[in-house]
Amino acid sequence: MFGVAEIMEMRLVLGLTGSIAIYKACELLRLFKKENVQIIPVMTPDSKRFISPLLVESLSQNKVYSDMFDESGGGFYHIMLSRGADLILIAPATANTIAKIAAGLADNLLTSIVLASDCPVLIAPAMNVKMLENLITQRNIKRLSEMERISFVMPESGELACGDTGQGRLADIDDIFDASMFYLCKEKFLRGKRVLVTAGPTREFMDPVRFLSNPSSGKMGYELARVAYWLGADVRLVSGPTNIKPPYGVRVENIISADDMKKAMLDSREEYDLLLMSAAISDWMFEKRSDQKIKRGCEKLQVDLRENPDILSLASKSGRFKYIVGFAAESENVVENAISKIGKKGIDAIVVNDISRSDIGFGNDYNEGKIIFSDGSIQNIDKMRKRDMAFRILSELAKRLGWKKI
Ligand SMILES: Cc1cc2nc3c(=O)[nH]c(=O)nc-3n(C[C@H](O)[C@H](O)[C@H](O)COP(=O)(O)O)c2cc1C
Repeated sequence: MFGVAEIMEMRLVLGLTGSIAIYKACELLRLFKKENVQIIPVMTPDSKRFISPLLVESLSQNKVYSDMFDESGGGFYHIMLSRGADLILIAPATANTIAKIAAGLADNLLTSIVLASDCPVLIAPAMNVKMLENLITQRNIKRLSEMERISFVMPESGELACGDTGQGRLADIDDIFDASMFYLCKEKFLRGKRVLVTAGPTREFMDPVRFLSNPSSGKMGYELARVAYWLGADVRLVSGPTNIKPPYGVRVENIISADDMKKAMLDSREEYDLLLMSAAISDWMFEKRSDQKIKRGCEKLQVDLRENPDILSLASKSGRFKYIVGFAAESENVVENAISKIGKKGIDAIVVNDISRSDIGFGNDYNEGKIIFSDGSIQNIDKMRKRDMAFRILSELAKRLGWKKI
């Protein structure tokens, strides 16, 4: 088993209520399964009118609990299931269930579990815009938000299933998932740490429509930022152009060129415990950038390239980063080149992967590589999902730096 599940068991009570958005919870189940989260599904009686417990049972690979008076549980399911849970997630949460929890009611298995538990509760409401805007619902949400262990992932605005338009649509599934993983990853060895991650390619424009770039997808950096957030860090991500949705809980700043990247990283006075420089920054820029689109018609076009500043070296000299990790995509002499880079750039470690392989690296969901430290020690990382590799890199660095699990 790779990734977060390698070192921590994650136990989730997933409450499903009678909202039309319940079908989206099926995707959520799939995401949790991929991270090896143990899911205990609890369906309200009305939710079973929308989807069959069989579907939830199959996707969660666990028994669905619904009846508080089911005698096979000895009559204490609400107590038994509330123990040992790392998180109770209610997604989707109806106005009715939110109102019951706010009033302290315990008239079904899900509301009873919430009342009997002491773990964090995360609520993702989904309802018609008028139901959400109703002062009664608003007051219920406000009252619950004031409680330390209860938080919300609020609904989005847009077209609703009933035909109305407005706020009420279940929040993005990826956001609900990331917000949940923050609670499920209970061993927070990055808590209190400030982490800056860079990701994606840069673009160096020659004229308004043409640029020099590389095939970096940004996936590795985004996964590093996402997992660092799960592990409790305050994360800032400076990203070149990618097609990836910003991870929940991470401050994202979009940039285009290497010069933008340099400014975003070094013009601010902010200090960081860790810099993870996974962006594939262009080594060169055009000497001159034309303001107008360069027209066809000349058989040969000659352009001059100028070397971009070495941002990693500048970051090292700035003294604003306590520990710096570079990332290198190499095609030959992978280890030798990495070791020489560490010395030249004055950084602490480098993660290398071999770009001569098509099954890992650029654009791929998988990666394989080595973390090479300035003292010459090497940590091999087998082929695994980039998300798992992000976890492996962060836990390895935390171990080195003596950052304890809190
Ligand atoms: C087709 C249909 C869709 C519904 N969708 C929602 C919804 O998205 N959000 C909501 O709060 N209630 C919705 N309701 C109303 C709830 O199903 C109703 O309040 C129910 O009693 C909720 O029970 P529960 O909170 O115990 O699951 C819907 C009802 C129907 C018939």
